[in-house]
Amino acid sequence: MSELLITNLDEIATPTGATARVGTAQGEIVRHREAEVFVRDGRIVFAGPRAERQRALGGLAGVERWDAGGGTVVPGFVDAHTHLPWAGSRESEFALRLAGRSYLDIAAAGGGILSTVRSTRFAEEDTLVEATLGRLDRMLAHGTTTAEAKSGYGLDRDNEIKQLRAIRRADARHAIDLVPTLLAAHEFPPEYRDDRDGYVDLVVNEIIPTVAGMGLARFNDVFCEQGVYDVDQTRRVLEAGREHGLVPRLHADEFVDSGGARLAAELGAASADHVAAVNDEAIEAMASSGVLAVLLPAVNFYLMKEPWAPARRFVEAGVGVVLATDCNPGSSHTESLPFILQLAIFHLRMTVEEALTAVTLNAAACLGVADRVGSIEPGKQADLTILDMPNLLHLGYHIGINPVRAVFKAGRPVLPVSEDGHAR
Ligand code: NIG
Ligand code: FE
Repeated sequence: MSELLITNLDEIATPTGATARVGTAQGEIVRHREAEVFVRDGRIVFAGPRAERQRALGGLAGVERWDAGGGTVVPGFVDAHTHLPWAGSRESEFALRLAGRSYLDIAAAGGGILSTVRSTRFAEEDTLVEATLGRLDRMLAHGTTTAEAKSGYGLDRDNEIKQLRAIRRADARHAIDLVPTLLAAHEFPPEYRDDRDGYVDLVVNEIIPTVAGMGLARFNDVFCEQGVYDVDQTRRVLEAGREHGLVPRLHADEFVDSGGARLAAELGAASADHVAAVNDEAIEAMASSGVLAVLLPAVNFYLMKEPWAPARRFVEAGVGVVLATDCNPGSSHTESLPFILQLAIFHLRMTVEEALTAVTLNAAACLGVADRVGSIEPGKQADLTILDMPNLLHLGYHIGINPVRAVFKAGRPVLPVSEDGHAR
């Protein structure tokens, strides 16, 4: 049996529960001052004020202690939308964008996602594993302890499998837990440019059954957008995935309202992501069917593009809001959830409390792991991020810095990193 008492915390700040919080409940955070967390065998036994711990558990003489020396502990962040295993980089396109070219223009000229498809197809699986591990190190340094990771830069059976295998191998070697998503329908590969439905057939008849049979993915995602997958193609791919046990979610209404969020509601998808150009009727439909809205404000920031997602309308309609990085080489090159949280506070007008729920409990619910992680409560896994901040409000108040001082994964200290320089 291993036991650890984390002492001398200024504050514990956490949502509570094992399901997504919606509406006003999204902003209801439990905050304990002068607090402690007691962990046994990787699970939280107690989280609350020190005085209460002394009453409930006594002195805990002889138990190992970790003195936080102040600071605020929040649940380890959960990044529910990333495109982690890619090769190459796109800084030349970034420079073109700074000079005024648009993301969609660059994509239409054969750059964008297809540029990363070329470099990812060319890369060895080992190269993708190393690239993913580097990104995971940076995510952990910014407080993330669980993340989703998508394929989508292979666009054929073997290269999609190569990416998903890289995710599985990186997961096994790193403290961050990864949840894998098949995104074979991210774009149309060049060899199917003139036969788009032929590629949908390949995804439905070959890629999905093979990937599901190998147990390489939990979710199945589609880029449903004008000029990419239309609603009928998206429905075909997501229904085929569901027949093979893959849970549907989708990139929806990122640039224009193309019916993606409505489809997410119709299918009862786990989430509709981006949803910046969503309409009110689709928001209501998402609320009725319990579809979460995964908002990715770094994409608007990075592409210098409006509209920002209507976070307030989602909260008011009772849709659970999740915030994620969308970490990818084209539209959002960042591993930092604290940065996302600040964008959400300043541009989406979310409260600090709502934003915290969005990167912890609601993100965990989106990935189907909220029974284990996403809050600091007895029974949950001790995934804890310790911020060098006197209270939760500083997460929005003190911007542009990395506030993360330490991270525990299942009760084990994984940041600061060990002597070999890796938190793996
Ligand atoms: O979520 N929107 C589609 N896919 C990614 C962008 C990927 C890329 O540009 O490589 C996104 O923003
Ligand atoms: Fe994405």
